[in-house]
This record gives sequence, structure tokens and C-alpha cells, in this order.
Amino acid sequence: MSARGADVWYRYWARPEPAQQAVPDAAEASPVPDASTASWPGSRGPARGPDEADIPIPPVILHAPPPPGGFHVERLARVLVVANQKGGVGKTTTAVSLAAALSEEGRKVLLLDLDPQGNASSGVGLRAQVDGPTIYEVLVDGADVREAVVPTAFQNLWAIPATIDLAGAEIELVAAFNRERRLRHALEPLLPEFDVIIIDCPPSLGLLTVNALSAGDGVVVPIQCEYFALEGLGALRRNTDLIRAQLNPELEIVGFVLTMLDARTRLSQQVVDEVRTHFGDLVFATRIPRSVRLAEAPGFGQPITVFDPASRGAMAYRNLALEVIDRITPAPTPARVREGARP
Ligand SMILES: Nc1ncnc2c1ncn2[C@@H]1O[C@H](COP(=O)(O)OP(=O)(O)OP(=O)(O)O)[C@@H](O)[C@H]1O
Ligand SMILES: [Mg+2]
Repeated sequence: MSARGADVWYRYWARPEPAQQAVPDAAEASPVPDASTASWPGSRGPARGPDEADIPIPPVILHAPPPPGGFHVERLARVLVVANQKGGVGKTTTAVSLAAALSEEGRKVLLLDLDPQGNASSGVGLRAQVDGPTIYEVLVDGADVREAVVPTAFQNLWAIPATIDLAGAEIELVAAFNRERRLRHALEPLLPEFDVIIIDCPPSLGLLTVNALSAGDGVVVPIQCEYFALEGLGALRRNTDLIRAQLNPELEIVGFVLTMLDARTRLSQQVVDEVRTHFGDLVFATRIPRSVRLAEAPGFGQPITVFDPASRGAMAYRNLALEVIDRITPAPTPARVREGARP
């Protein structure tokens, strides 16, 4: 069984006295390169466009507070897959912005670009030719995934960039042994190194997406507030069910996130209602507004939280990050609380 058994994700234990503390400093123990510790290059940027002005962003109400006395958690990374086979629905924007918002929250985050288009890579400023193995070599040749991890310019955020070679992997993997689970196995050495790994998928349900779903703990599905928003979601759910049944029983849908919402239009409201009717509480309360600043940020190689930290897009993705943390953090059971409480 993999190191990531059902209840190994989070192990609770009483923190030892400082003198006997056996847990090595994560930064020292990390085999991945150091992320830049430089301060955030974020600036407010120019004034926000009028499209963002009147869309209210409701506060997020969280449940599952930490247990009294706190608990201490040894983490293996939670692997979140951002998937929807429909193109242009906001997968990459969500993967990059969510990764940045989680890293801003102090989580150690790895953004894995699994789309040969490489948009997530450029979204965090990784445009140059990458030295060393890429995710293509990891999947096809079995190269060590740790060598494919590169630091970004942003604190707490690392990435595995994609290159166009990855398009070939989809074909070359067809004949490979264990072709659907290669990413899952490859990622194992990174699980103790990060809090969250976010995978940006291509717009298809091909082998790359299947590998991502097999490696994932949870799926985040962006849905664009447009006509035919629900199109293809049946196939995605069926695929997720199939992968849960045959390859990865731990996989769950973390939530559906409505993107590019223009609250002034009836169409957006209709889509919101329709998606809520279909998926109920699985729909995140946070909705991502349509925003020029969100569309501009990738051109500057910066996530929205850095490019325009005060924009409504940045605020929305921060709220989404809080909701995601809330959903992927197991509520402490009394036994766990007792076990984890300070002596
Ligand atoms: N909330 C938003 N407001 C305005 N523009 C947005 C928003 N979200 C995404 N976009 C823009 O819409 C386009 C598609 O978004 P994105 O690349 O995130 O979608 P995708 O699902 O990853 O696409 P693909 O299927 O091609 O990978 C991009 O130009 C992006 O900048
Ligand atoms: Mg994309």
C-alpha cells in the first residue's frame, strides 16, 4: 500500500519537549530546492476596472475550528487536482491563484503544470527553458520528480513546469506499464515536503488527466458562468467515480467553483442556480468574478494575489483558499483531539 493510506495524511501526536524534538526542520530536510525568500514583489498595480466595481464578495464562514489547546499535525501533502475537460473555464487561473493564495496563508505549495500548453508555468513567471528533467521525463522515463521541482519568485511556492514535450506523453504512455498511476508513484517522495500539491490539468479526459486524478486526494472543478456550463460535467463525474472505484479510492470532489461571474447578468445568475441545484453544497460559496485584472496577471508572470493584491479577483481566490483549507482539513474527532492535546 502507498505511504498515503487513508489515515496517514494527517497524523496527530503530542509535541515532544523542545530538547527531545525529533522532527527535523522542514527546510533543512527538504530535498527540493529552496524557494526564494525574497519579499513579495506584489504591488497594487493600476486602478481596478469598472467590471469589478459592483460585484460583492461575501465573507467566508468557516466551521471546524482547531480543537481547544490546539493539535499538532504531521502532514503529507494534500494533492488537489483542478480539472474540467471543457476548455477555457478558468482551470489554470484557479490553479495558479489558489496555489498563490494558499502559499500566502503560509502553506508550502507545489504547483504542478500537467498541461502541455504550459499556462500555469508562465502564470508564475516560469517562461525560460527549464534545466534538468521535466514532468515529461518523470512520467515517461521515470526521472526523479525532485529534480523537476523549481522555485518560483514567490514565497512558499514551488512549481513543476510543463513543456510542449508533455503532449507526447499522452501518446507514449499508452503502452507503458501502470500507465494511469505513474504520476501517483512519481509524486510519493514529494508528499512529505509540501502541504499542498495543486495539479493543473489539460482540457481533456486523456491519460494526463487520468494520471492527475489517480494521484489526487481531491478534485476542484471550475465552472464558467456561461451557456452550457454543465456540459461535460457528467462525463467528469463518471470518470471520477471510475477512478475512485478502480485506481484511487481516496479521490473525492472537493468542490465546484463558479468562475467568471458577472453578477449583473441574468445568465450568470441562472448558471449559479442551475449548478447549485445539481451539486448543492459541493459548490463553493465563493464565486470568482469576471475581472480584467485576473486576465492580465498571467501576462506579467504573477499570480493575482501578487499582481493586484487588493483586487476583487485576489480577494475571491483568498476566500476560496480558506474554503478549500476548511474542506480538506479533517474535522478533529474527540479521540484525535485528546491524542493531540498538549500534555
Ligand atoms: N475570473 C476571470 N475573469 C476574467 N478572465 C478570466 C477569469 N478567469 C480566467 N480568465 C481568462 O479566461 C481565459 C481562460 O482561462 P484559463 O486559462 O484559466 O482557463 P483553462 O480552463 O485553464 O483553459 P484551458 O482549458 O485552455 O487550459 C484566460 O485568458 C484567462 O486569463
Ligand atoms: Mg489551462
